Amino acid sequence: MFGKWFLAKRRHKLRKDKIPRHIAIIMDGNGRWARRRGLPRVAGHKAGMDAIQRCLEGMRSLDVRYLTLYAFSTENWRRPRTEVDFLMDLPKQFIGQELDTLTKNNIRLGVIGDLDGLPQHTREAICHGIEKTRDNDGLFLNFALNYGGRDDLVRAAQIIARQVAAGELSPDLIDKESLSAALYTRGIPDPDLVIRTSGEVRISNFMLWQIAYSELCFVDCFWPDFDEEHLLRAVETFQRRNRRFGGV
Ligand code: FPP
Repeated sequence: MFGKWFLAKRRHKLRKDKIPRHIAIIMDGNGRWARRRGLPRVAGHKAGMDAIQRCLEGMRSLDVRYLTLYAFSTENWRRPRTEVDFLMDLPKQFIGQELDTLTKNNIRLGVIGDLDGLPQHTREAICHGIEKTRDNDGLFLNFALNYGGRDDLVRAAQIIARQVAAGELSPDLIDKESLSAALYTRGIPDPDLVIRTSGEVRISNFMLWQIAYSELCFVDCFWPDFDEEHLLRAVETFQRRNRRFGGV
């Protein structure tokens, strides 16, 4: 009770004009969370999925507009088959469990990454969730699935090369805007804040173009333990930073 009151007080103290519009999270540490408890790695991923639900509450109470979650990278296929299969089932479980809540809370689902490379049942679950929430205009919950920052850039280069080959675009007119528009994140503002849990300090091929000016925040807890307090602390840190975008 006191905890909730204290969090609400801290939330109230935040500058409303400096709330990050887009937060992107590298949800790391599920496996270690499970190992510490003598559980199989997949139990960590299940707990990680539950943490998403809590995180959504926190995002809504702060009025964050976009949340991108790195759920499966183009490199994660190297994991054991059983773990990959488990991860590929999570979107279906998540949408099955959460669709009503997403709708009630006006949350719109989106996805970035190569959907064609996903199993059909995963793709279908995601498309179903996107379709059912497409008219919502509250928080945009964006899953990065089978996503890699380098892949994103290669694909954008291919899209632009095709436009040039078709005579629709002159090479001289290729600029930052046309490249941004060819990325999976087309239409989504760049993240203001990137959070990575688990104490690892690296980007791991996540949104390489889009995070050029993002503030980075590395949090020591494992993703399944990430709660509203961690989120609030990250946003407080963000608000203390002086973003200059190369200026003075
Ligand atoms: C990294 O931790 C986590 C992942 C690769 C998977 C993240 C997925 C979820 C939290 C659930 C996704 C849910 C939906 C609905 C798509 P790790 O396994 O690398 O942890 P470790 O570094 O401790 O081994």
